[in-house]
Amino acid sequence: MIHDFIYDIPVKVYFGRDQLHHLGGELKKYGTRVLMTYGGGSIKRSGLYDRVVKELREAGLEWFELPGIEPNPRVASVREGARLCKEHGIDVLLAIGGGSTIDATKWIAAAACTDRDAWDFFDPAILAPVEKALPVLDILTLSATGSEMDCGGVISNPDTKDKYGRMDPLLLPKVSFLDPSNTFSVSAYQTACGGADMLSHIIEVYFNMDQDLYMLDTFMEGLMKTIIKYTPVAIREPDNYEARANLMWASSWAINGFIDGGKRQAWSCHPMEHELSAIYDITHGLGLAILTPRWMTYCLDETTVSKYVQFGVNVLGIDPDQAPMDIARQAIDRFSTVLFDTFGLSRTLPEVGIDDTHFAVMARKAVAGGVLPGFKPLRQEDVEAIYRMCMA
Ligand code: NZQ
Ligand code: ZN
Repeated sequence: MIHDFIYDIPVKVYFGRDQLHHLGGELKKYGTRVLMTYGGGSIKRSGLYDRVVKELREAGLEWFELPGIEPNPRVASVREGARLCKEHGIDVLLAIGGGSTIDATKWIAAAACTDRDAWDFFDPAILAPVEKALPVLDILTLSATGSEMDCGGVISNPDTKDKYGRMDPLLLPKVSFLDPSNTFSVSAYQTACGGADMLSHIIEVYFNMDQDLYMLDTFMEGLMKTIIKYTPVAIREPDNYEARANLMWASSWAINGFIDGGKRQAWSCHPMEHELSAIYDITHGLGLAILTPRWMTYCLDETTVSKYVQFGVNVLGIDPDQAPMDIARQAIDRFSTVLFDTFGLSRTLPEVGIDDTHFAVMARKAVAGGVLPGFKPLRQEDVEAIYRMCMA
């Protein structure tokens, strides 16, 4: 059945090469004191940092900086950002980077408005409410997570080996600058991981037996075809604007809330992956690439096969005149080829240095002590079995 839903995505997007001159005006709507946040230095190497500083100067804004936000961002960065906001009376945040920088900045925005410790937002025993948050604007430099157009952020705590995502409407960016040429410098590896992440965001929604909106299914199929088509182009030709533009806009639409209209189910591969990156600090998209085909294999049976047929025929171009189970198995094989051969990502957990030491603990945490109520409900033993399938 088609469930009721609310569509509300109030993020203003400036898309394209020649949009940065709007930055100063947009920031000034929220104040004059800016905290600029970024990662390990790619924005300095690409020249984007200098272009942003020029805009801030010309707009007469005062700015402070939090550099060094790490991939799989740590709660320590959120704490430090919140401290800077309080010390300098920051009005507005400007995140420049990929999902890690934008996610951390969203939670800095919330942590700056409370005396609580930042981890209180994530500690399952506390889950402090988000009552207020500073406005966040961002300049995206890596197409992957969709953080530029969603209200979620994922934060890691190396002390507890936890990685938790949480959403709150107050964290939605006010404005996102999406210039595909800012992603020309993204490595082949991160481009591939980004493609895998975007595909997973769609697959988590698309593989759903309770989704009857044909319009949304065909939209998702178009997004997946776009990502499968353009990720290898961007890997081969990093400065191909058409490829980077298609991937950038696909990343935003894969997770901005549009495609899951009416859906009532939890995601499956993301909770499993967050346990991998929490303990082993691997790239999120890589973990998803390894897990997803195994999860597909594990969930395939007579009750779910029709979804695989739809995916195989409409997205991967498999001949529909075959037995459904044959189409389903070919779909999984062909999808694996996309991830591991065309995108060039590692195929197994041992290849990325992960053994089975922590599988039981990771599986228990992934299902939060209960059941993951996704495409097929998964208990701890199911998740553990899926991790084991990733060993070879
Ligand atoms: O730190 P810098 O120097 O900028 O380098 C980064 C980093 O090393 C580099 N990079 C980014 N833009 C670049 C670039 N290098 C060259 N040129 C550029 N233009 O890429 C590396 C990875 O960056 P990161 O931000 O970590 O990648 P991504 O965007 O994939 O973000 C991953 C994080 O987002 C979370 C993930 O769990 C992970 O922590 N997610 C956030 C979601 C959300 N907000 O909704 C959903 C996702 O499912 C995901 O969980
Ligand atoms: Zn993801």
